[in-house]
This record gives sequence, C-alpha cells and structure tokens, in this order.
Amino acid sequence: MTNSSSQMDFRVDAPPLRLPVPIPLDRPLGTLGLLMTLRRNPLEAWTREHFEQPIVIQKHLLGHIAVVSDPDGIRRVLLDNAANYEKDTLQRRILSSGLSGGLLTAEGDQWKMQRRTLAPLFSRRAVDAFAPAMVAGARAMVERWRQRPDGAVIDISAEMARVTLDVLVRTIFSEGLGGDPEVLRNAMRVYFDTIGLIDPFDVLGFPDYIPRFTRLRVRSTLAIFDRAVESIIATRRRRLAEDPERVPRDILGLLLEAQDPETGRGMSEAEVRANIITFIAAGHETTSNALTWSTYLLSLSGEWRAAVEAEAASELDGPMEGIADRMTTTRAVLDEAVRLYPPLVAMSRQAIGADVLVGKPIEAGMMVVIAPYVLHRQPRLWDAPDVFDPNRFLPGQRDAIDRYSYLPFGAGPRVCIGQAFAQQEATIVLGEIIRNFTLELPTGHVVTPMQRLTLRPENGLPMIVRRRR
Ligand code: HEM
Repeated sequence: MTNSSSQMDFRVDAPPLRLPVPIPLDRPLGTLGLLMTLRRNPLEAWTREHFEQPIVIQKHLLGHIAVVSDPDGIRRVLLDNAANYEKDTLQRRILSSGLSGGLLTAEGDQWKMQRRTLAPLFSRRAVDAFAPAMVAGARAMVERWRQRPDGAVIDISAEMARVTLDVLVRTIFSEGLGGDPEVLRNAMRVYFDTIGLIDPFDVLGFPDYIPRFTRLRVRSTLAIFDRAVESIIATRRRRLAEDPERVPRDILGLLLEAQDPETGRGMSEAEVRANIITFIAAGHETTSNALTWSTYLLSLSGEWRAAVEAEAASELDGPMEGIADRMTTTRAVLDEAVRLYPPLVAMSRQAIGADVLVGKPIEAGMMVVIAPYVLHRQPRLWDAPDVFDPNRFLPGQRDAIDRYSYLPFGAGPRVCIGQAFAQQEATIVLGEIIRNFTLELPTGHVVTPMQRLTLRPENGLPMIVRRRR
C-alpha cells in the first residue's frame, strides 16, 4: 500500500477516486435563473468556460464580472496591484452586521492598523500555545462519541461545527462563556448560520434600509451575543487592573493587550468585540467544513485512512509544538480536501481604477472574482483535477504547485490571518477522529456539495461511527 524508504519519496498508492460535484453548465444562466440558483446553490451557476479559460468576463445583474483563473492575473489582483482592488460592496453587505469594524471587512488605513495589531495573536508561537485547547476540544468530542452506541449514525457536519466552535471558545475565552453557555451557543449558531445566506436584495443592490428577510433573526441573536461578550470583557478588564499576572493568555487577553507596533494605540472596545465576532465567523464554518470534507474523503479511501491512522498513532501523544508540520500525511489529506472543496468558494474584489488582467481590459468599478473552487479544478494547472490524490501535497511534491494556483487561504496582504491556527486545529481533530473511530457513509446517502457562506455537504454528513479496537 505504501512505500516510505525516505520522506521525499513517500507516497500512498490508492485507486483514483471521482467525487460528487455539480456538472458545469454549457452556457450562462439568464437573470431569473441566476437569482434562483444563487439562492439555492451558487455552485451550480458555473459554466464549463469558467473551468477551462484563464479569464471569463460576463455581463450580470451587477454589471461586468471578471472571473480570473490565471496564476499571473491572480497575483496581480491579490499582490502586485492589490491597492487597486478592494473588497466589493456585495461581500461587505453579506458579511455586514456584527463583523463591521473587524479585520475581515475593514479597508485602507483602518485595515492596515488592525492587521499590524492583530498579527502577533496568530504568530507561530501564539498558535503553538493554543494546541492544548485544541487537543482538549478534540478529546471532548471523542468522549462524546464514545458515549454513543457503537455503530450509531452521527452527523459529522454538525459535530465538526460543534468542535470548531468549542475550540474557538476555549482559545478566545479560556475561562468559559459565563451566563448560560447553551443560550449563547445557540445564539451564535443562529447568527453564523444566517449571515451565510445570499439575499436576492443584496445581489440586486437594494439599499440597506430595506429589511432582508433572510436576516430578521440575526439582530436579536447578535444582541444576545454582544451583551455576553461585553460582560466578559468588563470582568476581564477588572481582573487585568487588579492582578495582570494571573490573567490567562487567551485570544481575549491578547486582544485587550494588543497595540499597534507603529503608534502604540490599543484597540477600542468596539474593535475588540467586532474582532471576536470576526474570528468566530471566519474561523468556525471554514475549519468545520475543511474537516467535514476530509473525513468524508478518508471514509472513501482505505489506503489514505490507514496512512493517517499510522501517523496519528505515532505523533498525537508526543509534544504538540509544530504538530501540523510533522503530520505531513494528515496535512496532505487536509490540503487536498480544501483543494477539491475549498471552504471559501470565491473571493471578490472591486477594481478602483482601470487595469489589464490576462490581456483583457478591466474597467474601474468592475467586479473581479477569484474562485478557488474553479481555479483548483483547471486542467491547465492540475493533473487529474477532479481526482482525490493527496500525494500532490506530500513533501517534495508540493513544491511543484504554483503559489497562485492554490488559494484555499487566499494570498497577498489579505491572506487568511488564521491559516496556521486552522491547519493545526484540523490536523489534531482529524488525527484524533481517525485513530479512535472508523467512519462509513450509510448505503444510499448521496453527498451533494452546496455553497452557503462556505462549501458544505447539503443536509449534513451522516456517518456510521464505529469505535476502533
Ligand atoms: C480552513 C479554514 C479557513 C479557510 C479555508 C480560510 C480562508 C480564508 C480566505 C480565503 C481568506 C481571504 C479572503 C479574501 O481575500 O477575500 C481569509 C481571510 C481571513 N480569515 Fe480565514 N480561513 C480559515 C480559517 C480561519 C480561522 C481559524 C480564522 C481565525 C481564527 C480566520 C480568520 C480570517 C480573517 C480575520 C481574515 C481576514 C484577513 C484580512 O482581511 O486581513 N480564518 N480566510
């Protein structure tokens, strides 16, 4: 099954696996069809041309949209000429409410200041220090599954959402949520489920004072969350003033102490709150879906499952420092899962001034879309793009991948700040699952990828979970 004479030529020989994806359309949808598809499952709106061409410019409801799938063109948008491309208004509307004022939606000087201030929270050292909280979250999940009868059907999607939220809560608020944690968890679930819905009013550019039916429940749940966070911050500030030595070094503590290295300015109360909500919003469903897809893919491949199991058995009881770099097989599976099913299907930007991308003129105001889902399946850039083959991400082989052909975490100045956090967490959680359980899809269950805020299996992912002896 495997040959591993040295790490450089380690590979797993497994039969090719073809996976469920919507079949690309032959031609673009009309206005009504597009609106309905965006509401139901935007993944079904891509055409064959998108998967084959380096750039596709089409006229839509919002004007001209350029979808760029060429590594040089993408590098220009995200890095070389990044100042000319800001996050577009549609994206900001969809993310809106609780997230405004946080790193994800900020622009210009406000974004620069926040990024400088927040960088140390997600440094390698900081992320290493979060490993015990990640292990504790993963082991609590393992315990929960052990309480269930052997062979029970468990919705892995819901469980991954639960464990990733648990890890965020443990790393942000290491002393717990206070009050009634279930009420708060519920409020968070409703809030983060709802902000992902694409409202037709947003697509049509209706002004913000017209209520969005998709979001009516959001305001009240956000208020519950806001009040709870406010009270946690107040308690923590009091304790910081009384005895700074004994205050835990969780994300909340780091946020309250964070200072802009250029100006020495700390974060306002509103900025601390907005960024807590931002980290949960940006880090919860994304990591949860990366794990869900990885678990699904491993359930289909006995060879890769065995390789991950062997690695987990040899690494997960040892020191946690640099664990995500040492567990190269598990990482390769995760990297391949987010190639095939990138949690963020697309990133969008609006051109401030005119530019030229892949030889085509881009006018000021035009929307430019970079879609990892489409980019990662381009036959020009990938061998057998629709096949699950983590070998391509093993040490020695991954160097052949162009930086701008593979963008699950974005690139350039706005690259995901939580990448190392997510990779470490996902490696630990996936390793713990695989070394403790075997998972099998119930006969007849069809997995359909569906895009909300992130890419997830429609109707969850039921799996038969058996304890390993
Ligand atoms: C598998 C998990 C994750 C994926 C696939 C992912 C993906 C991304 C991508 C593609 C971007 C860039 C968006 C753009 O350029 O428009 C981004 C930005 C961001 N991510 Fe992640 N992310 C993940 C986990 C996390 C985690 C765990 C956190 C925090 C705890 C986080 C926080 C953020 C923030 C704050 C930004 C905005 C950065 C900025 O604009 O400066 N993400 N993420």
